[in-house]
Amino acid sequence: MLTKAPKGTRDILPGETSKWQYFERVVSKLAENYGFNELRVPIFEHTDLFARGVGESTDIVTKQMYTFEDKAARSITLRPEGTASTVRAFIEYKMFNQPQPVKMYYLGPMFRYENPQAGRYRQFHQFGVEYFGSIAPEADVETIQLCINIFKELGLKNLSLEINSVGCPNCRQKFQEELKKYLANNLDELCKDCRSRYETNPMRILDCKNKKCNDLLKDDMPLLLDNLCSECDEHFYNVKELLTYVGLDFEVNPKMVRGLDYYTKTAFEVIVDDIGAQSSIGGGGRYDGLVKECGGPETPAVGFAVGIERVLLALENQGVKIPEDNEADAYLVYGGSEAKKECFRMLDKIRSLGYLALMDFEDKSFRAQLKKADKLNAKYAVIIGEEELSEEHVLLRNMKDGNQEKIPMNSFLDKIQELIR
Ligand code: HAM
Repeated sequence: MLTKAPKGTRDILPGETSKWQYFERVVSKLAENYGFNELRVPIFEHTDLFARGVGESTDIVTKQMYTFEDKAARSITLRPEGTASTVRAFIEYKMFNQPQPVKMYYLGPMFRYENPQAGRYRQFHQFGVEYFGSIAPEADVETIQLCINIFKELGLKNLSLEINSVGCPNCRQKFQEELKKYLANNLDELCKDCRSRYETNPMRILDCKNKKCNDLLKDDMPLLLDNLCSECDEHFYNVKELLTYVGLDFEVNPKMVRGLDYYTKTAFEVIVDDIGAQSSIGGGGRYDGLVKECGGPETPAVGFAVGIERVLLALENQGVKIPEDNEADAYLVYGGSEAKKECFRMLDKIRSLGYLALMDFEDKSFRAQLKKADKLNAKYAVIIGEEELSEEHVLLRNMKDGNQEKIPMNSFLDKIQELIR
C-alpha cells in the first residue's frame, strides 16, 4: 500500500517531465497565438457545480466523481473536467462585463473514477480552452482549428476529425421523442442505466458503452441531424462550409453525442490511430446554455479539451521524437581537492550566466567524470587538474568532437558565453 500509488494514478518521473513541459510550452504558445489567456481554477469545487453543469444523468456525474464531505459537511468534488469550473469563474468574476469574446485556456489534473487501462486513468491531465461570447460559426471553426493545429504542431499523424450537431433544447426535445418511440418495443433489452436514461434523458443512450444497447441503435434509428431546427441546421451548415473552406478534413458522425450534457449545436472529437481502444485524444463543442444554467447571463460558448496522457502515448507509439531532458552545457571535471574547490566556485558562476552546469562531488577519477559528462550529453567539459591550477587556466573540451583548448581562468567565463549562446 505505502509503496504503490493509488490505482489509476501515475507518477510523472524526472525522465518524462521534459516531454510534459514541451507539450505545455507548445500548447500555451499556440493558444496564446489564438488569443486565449491562461486561467487557473481550483482542483475541487462544490459538487452541485458539476451535477448541474456536466448533467445529472451523465456517466461522469452518476458514476465517476470523487465526491466527499469536508469537515463542515459541504459536498465537495474533485474536478472531473474543466468547463464547469471555467464557467463558474466567468460568472463569479463577471467576465461577461468585459469586452467579448473572453478566451481562456487551462492545463491540469482531472479526476474520474473509471476502470483504468492504457490511456485511461483516474487522475489524468487535460489541456482545454473555453471561448465565451460568440455565436458565430467562425468561433466553432477557430476552436477546432486550434485543436487540430496543436496535434499537427506536435507532429501527430493519422488524425481524424468527427463532427456532429446535437442541436438546441428545442430540436433535442423532438429527437428524444422520436428516439423513445424507436426504442419503445425493446425496452427490456436496454441495460438498467439506459432504462432510466429512457425516462430522464434518452439521448444519453447513444453514449452507452454496453454493446447490447448499441446494437439496438441500428441504421434506421432517428438522427439528431434530421431533427434540427432551422437555426441549428444553418449553423451546422456554416460550420461545415467553413471547415471545408479552411482545408480541414472532417467526417460527420451523426451518432456522436459526447459524454457531457451541456453541448448545443456543434460537437466534435479528434480520434487517433495507434493508441488502442481509448482513441479519442480530444473533444469539445458549443455549449450556449451553460452560463445561464449556472446562474449567469445568456452567453454562447465553445471549447474543447485534450487528454495529455493520450497525446503523449500517441506521439510515442508513432515514433515522434520530442525533446528529452535538458542537456548540460558544461560538466566540471577536477583532479585534487584544490581543483575541486575551484570547480565548485566556477559551477555557480556558470549557472548564474544562465547555463546548465553540473559536477560530481565524489572525487571520482578523471576518466569516470568525463564518462559521466558524455552520458549526460554535456556540450563542454571544463577540466581543472593540478597543472591547470598552477598555470591558472582551464582545459575546455568540446564533448562532441573531442577538441581541447587551454583558456586563461580570468577570461574563461567570457569564452563560455562566446561558445554557448
Ligand atoms: P471529454 O471528452 O470528457 O471532454 O474529455 C476530453 C479528453 O480528455 C478526452 O478526449 C480524452 O482525451 C481525455 N480523457 C477523458 N477521460 C480520460 C481518462 N479517464 N483518462 C485519460 N484521458 C481522459 C471534456 O472534458 C470537456 N470538458 C471538453 C470541453 C471543453 N468541451 C467544451 N469545452
